[in-house]
Parts: sequence; structure tokens; C-alpha cells
Amino acid sequence: MSVYLGIDIGTSGTKTLAINAKGKILAQAMEAYPCYHPKPLWSEQDPEDWWQATVKTVRAVVKQAKLKPANVRAIGLSGQMHGSVFLDKHNKVVRRALLWNDQRTAAECAEIEKRAGGRKRLIEMVANPALTGFTAPKILWLRNSEPKNFEKTVKVLLPKDEIRRRLTGEFATEVSDASGMLLLDVVHRRWSKELLGKLDLDVNMFGQVYESEEVTGRLTSEAAKLLGLSTDCLVVGGAGDCAAGAVGNGIVKPGVLSTSIGTSGVVFVHAETPQVDPLGRLHTFCHAVRGKWHMMGVTLAAGGSLQWFRNAVCQTLASEAKRRKVDAYDVLTEEAAVTPPGAEGLFFLPYLAGERTPHANPNARGAFVGLTLKHTRGHLVRAIMEGVTYSLRDCLAIIEEQGVAVKQIRASGGGARSAFWRQMQADVLGKAVVSMAADEGPGYGVALLAAVGAGEFKNVAEACEATVKTVEQTKPVTAARKVYDKGFGVYQELYGVLKEEFKKIGLLSD
Ligand code: XUL
Repeated sequence: MSVYLGIDIGTSGTKTLAINAKGKILAQAMEAYPCYHPKPLWSEQDPEDWWQATVKTVRAVVKQAKLKPANVRAIGLSGQMHGSVFLDKHNKVVRRALLWNDQRTAAECAEIEKRAGGRKRLIEMVANPALTGFTAPKILWLRNSEPKNFEKTVKVLLPKDEIRRRLTGEFATEVSDASGMLLLDVVHRRWSKELLGKLDLDVNMFGQVYESEEVTGRLTSEAAKLLGLSTDCLVVGGAGDCAAGAVGNGIVKPGVLSTSIGTSGVVFVHAETPQVDPLGRLHTFCHAVRGKWHMMGVTLAAGGSLQWFRNAVCQTLASEAKRRKVDAYDVLTEEAAVTPPGAEGLFFLPYLAGERTPHANPNARGAFVGLTLKHTRGHLVRAIMEGVTYSLRDCLAIIEEQGVAVKQIRASGGGARSAFWRQMQADVLGKAVVSMAADEGPGYGVALLAAVGAGEFKNVAEACEATVKTVEQTKPVTAARKVYDKGFGVYQELYGVLKEEFKKIGLLSD
């Protein structure tokens, strides 16, 4: 029996799963870790926490499914994109990693644009504008703000690639995740020596670039022993969590688009050629499918907004739900479901971590607008879910503006597990939404890439064809759709009204 593992280094925790050659899930495990916010809009994690969670979850999966080391043929790695792991010459982590939703690098983004010779030239070199969440501005921030740490740094790796280093001893990455560093020539799928030169960065700081299903190494004897696996076990390139999730949902051909509500919200579409949004609102990255690309819009606090509300505002509910062994999110969703679409005039702007699509604005802030004495906790929850779904509609609108014909929307991520939120997506987006038979997230997608890399399938499309199935369709309800069409207009205007105020608020709380 051949078994493939997928490991996803997420923001809330690491999830590992094992599949057989038919794509059936044999076991899965998750281990959570903290995220640090030393200042508003800063976001950091400790790479050692990722490694400990990797070891724990792999061992748990091996134990649960009683896996024989010789049967586990390959591992695929996925993870939160853009994070910066800074390593010294002894491979020691120099400081905590800065994450994808960290907003401290606005000055460095301006510096990159200037050094590149302008925004247009930058987009010509790496297919994307400089955004605070990307990796290159983080490296410049280290050079500008913590020069001693920068001097010590000899390698910079993405979160999943740091785990690869600890598993295989190799410094490597792959095209989908590397696209989000703002240092990859996305069109030619290799480091942009031109931009690296302009930024005065040495190409040797970064790992070798592979395609996503290519083998990048094997487990070292130390890692194999620790995990209960064999040194014959291959580690393939894998993918950033967005591309990995897309593979897991079969978004590997034109016309099929996915929405994903995890910590972030992602609207993702496959592209046969590297199509670039001239306004830079969408990301154009290499896909985890050889020779293909994808476009996506990313909103920074999707499920993250609801998670914030549960943790910061409903602490007693969260602990009571835990005691009663019920899910706090189910309790909150039930309360939301008894309030009407539009939350009786209450709006929520989900910019708790600044925003990327459609407003590349690190200063943006979250807001409830329209509160009255009538509003209950259920209304607040409904408004949060609606605000997040409007932000997905913003992304979808830009994708359609690029001339992409959307034939099917596949809903995925934690948010798609709730029938209530799926219906809201159909109503807000004004299109039928399809759900997946097994929505197991990025870990599933990279387990499939591992199976392709080990020769189980001819290519990624064939692996998806054999394993990914859709189940049910949720159609929009006309009455709700009308409410949301009007509400979306107000939602879009609110950002414009508050934009300048966000800047002032930022200065007050710095
Ligand atoms: C993608 C992005 C997020 C993270 C979250 O560009 O920043 O989706 O990858 O894990």
C-alpha cells in the first residue's frame, strides 16, 4: 500500500493528513500554536513552533493509521505564504518570522518600487506590485530596522521551506510559494536576477526553485527517526497554501474558480498564461500545475474576523462551548441565522489586519457601521460574515473585469463547512456555489502533489480527475440577493468614506 502525507503549516496551526493512492484520507491531526502581535498590525510566529507541530502531527498520523515506514512514499509541504524565516550561518533562526498579514513594511514597499525604476517596471519583472505582506519588503525591513540581525542572516526561507530544510537538509522552494516573495520572475519561473540586483540582495540567500510536484530531497536519517518514517521517503516541492488548496479542489483548468474562507479569504482562478491585472489588485503567481499560472484576490481577515470576534468579544461563550463540547462558531452562526439578510442596517468592514484586495492599504482598519439599540450579538456575527463575503465579491468582480469567464464557483475552507455561510456566498456573489466531497484544504492538495511526484499519477490534472469530487450546489435566493446587491454598494462606499480617517487613527495608535 502506498501512502502520501500532506503537511500544511497554517497560521492557526499545522495540519497533517495521510492519503492512500486513491486519495482516501487515512488519518489527520492538527496542532495549534500562538501568533504574536507586538504592535497593532504586526504579526509574527516562531518557526520552532511550526517544527514541533510538524513532528507531533506526523507522529500522530503515523500512529492513528498504523502506517509502515516503507509505505509512506512521499511528503508534500504547504503553508502560509510570504512569511520570512531568517537563518544565520549555523541555520539558527535569527528572529521570529514576519507573517503574510504583517503590515510594517509600507516604507520598504516604496523603496522597492523606487529601486525597481517604478511600479510598471517592477510588475514587468515580477508580475506583481510591492505589497506589505510579501517577503521582499520584509527582508528590506530587517536590513533597515534591525541591521545587526540582517548582518547575521545568510538564508531567507518561506515557512514550509524551513520545514523542508529540517526534514531534508535542503534549501529549496517551489514556484507557487516563491511567486509571493516578489523576487521571482513569475513569467519564466526563476529568480529575477534583475530585481535582486536592484535590491542589492544575493541570489544565494534563497533556495533552489522547483516545480511543485518535483522531488526536492529525501528525509535525513535524523528526521526519519524522529517521525517514524523511512529515509526513502521523498519530499516534493509542494505549494503555497492557496495553490495547494486549489489543487485539492481541482482548480486546475480554466473557468473553475474557488472561494476559500480560512484565516484569510481567497478568490482563486487558474490561468493558462501569466495574465497580469494592470492595476495590481490581483496577485499573478505560478500555479502548482507545471507551466500554468493563477490569479487571486486575497482579503486578510476572513475567518480571521470571526475568530477575532469569538476570542476577543465572546470569551465566556468560547469557554462555555468548550465545556459543553459544542463548537462556539456553531452557537454564533445559529444566532446570526435568526437575523435577516443585511443585519438590519449593520455593516462590517473586515480590515482588521489592513487589506490587500481590493484596497492594498496597510492602514485600513476594521469597523462596525450602523449600530443601533436593536442590534444583538447575532446581528454582529451576521454583519461580520456579510462583510467578509462582500470582500470576496470585491475580488470576484476584479477577476471578471479581466475577462475571465467564471463557469463554476467551488466554496472551500472552514467557512464553506457552514451551510449558512455557503448560502450567504451564493446570495452575495449572485451565483450558484458548489461544495466539495472532501474539503480537506491545502494538506490534501500537497498530498496529491506528493503522489504525482512519486509517480502514482501522470500529472496534477490526472490526480485531481481521479480524486476530487463536487457534491452539492447552493443556488442564490432572489430576495436575499436583492438585499445584498444594494448592501454591496453601501459596503463599497464605506471604505472610501473612512479611508482618510484610518490613516489618522493609525497615527494615534502607533
Ligand atoms: C496569500 C496569503 C494568505 C496566506 C494565509 O497571498 O497571504 O492566504 O497564505 O495562509
